[in-house]
Amino acid sequence: MGEPRRTILITGASAGIGAALARVCAARSHDLILTARREGPLKGLAEDLSARHGVVASVITADLAEPGAPVALVEAIAARGLRADGLINNAGFSRTTGFLSTEPDDHAAMIRVMLTAPVELSRLLLPGMVARGWGRVLNVASLAGQMPATGGDTLYGPIKSFLIKASQGLWLETQGTGVHVTALCPGYTYTEFHDVNGSREQVSSAYPAWMWMDAERVARIGWDAVEANRPRVTPGVMNNVLATLGGMLPDSLALKMVGGHARRLDRL
Ligand SMILES: NC(=O)c1ccc[n+]([C@@H]2O[C@H](COP(=O)([O-])OP(=O)(O)OC[C@H]3O[C@@H](n4cnc5c(N)ncnc54)[C@H](OP(=O)(O)O)[C@@H]3O)[C@@H](O)[C@H]2O)c1
Repeated sequence: MGEPRRTILITGASAGIGAALARVCAARSHDLILTARREGPLKGLAEDLSARHGVVASVITADLAEPGAPVALVEAIAARGLRADGLINNAGFSRTTGFLSTEPDDHAAMIRVMLTAPVELSRLLLPGMVARGWGRVLNVASLAGQMPATGGDTLYGPIKSFLIKASQGLWLETQGTGVHVTALCPGYTYTEFHDVNGSREQVSSAYPAWMWMDAERVARIGWDAVEANRPRVTPGVMNNVLATLGGMLPDSLALKMVGGHARRLDRL
């Protein structure tokens, strides 16, 4: 008898790293529950992956910026007779116009989508994973969370730092349960992210192609890391160098570096 089929819930699966993670999981014969706000791309992806890999891919739309959305999502999963054995908290976005020029509703949405939703979904789904003795939680954080600050997108870095630390705490708590927890910390990755925050032109001219990774590679590295139960993974040699520097430099120097980066991108 082979391994039982597992179902992985992926947030932000309509594009970028989330869609790439869906392709990686499907290629490894996992069934999927795909969620995001846009139904069209989710349905297209689900049909493609079912046809290609023979997996069951279900679509449930949700706006994770809405209070109560994580509970409603888990209820909708149960109402369909489905169960999530794995959770990929990937949905996210940033605002780069500065703290005071960002609407309070946008601040609240960032916190709900990238911080509150991962916490709530983990709290709702982890007990089942622990009880069944198998689970995977992959939190898509960022290299930005390993830096001392983010200039212009002031809340983004701290939210991602939170996700890294929370993942590490959960990793400690779940040792020996069959549940693996990993924070994935990508650097610049080709997705819709910089189109959505309006900084495509600046980031493309400020950073050369060798600093960018494609979403498929980032997704493979992330899923391999959670399979191996590594608490944190940063894809790419240059990103690891930056993460190490970010942790070693004194604040005064590190903030100069971050400030220079933000000015190059017209964020300060
Ligand atoms: N690209 C990079 O350079 C980079 C670097 C480091 C970390 N990351 C992180 O990687 C993750 C994925 O980003 P990406 O680069 O793949 O960006 P992306 O292509 O813009 O994808 C973002 C995903 O998040 C979903 N999303 C956004 N707001 C949502 C909401 N309110 N409710 C539900 N879903 C929502 C989007 O779906 P809908 O619009 O359909 O809702 C989309 O599927 C994010 O957490 C991001 O912070 C990205």
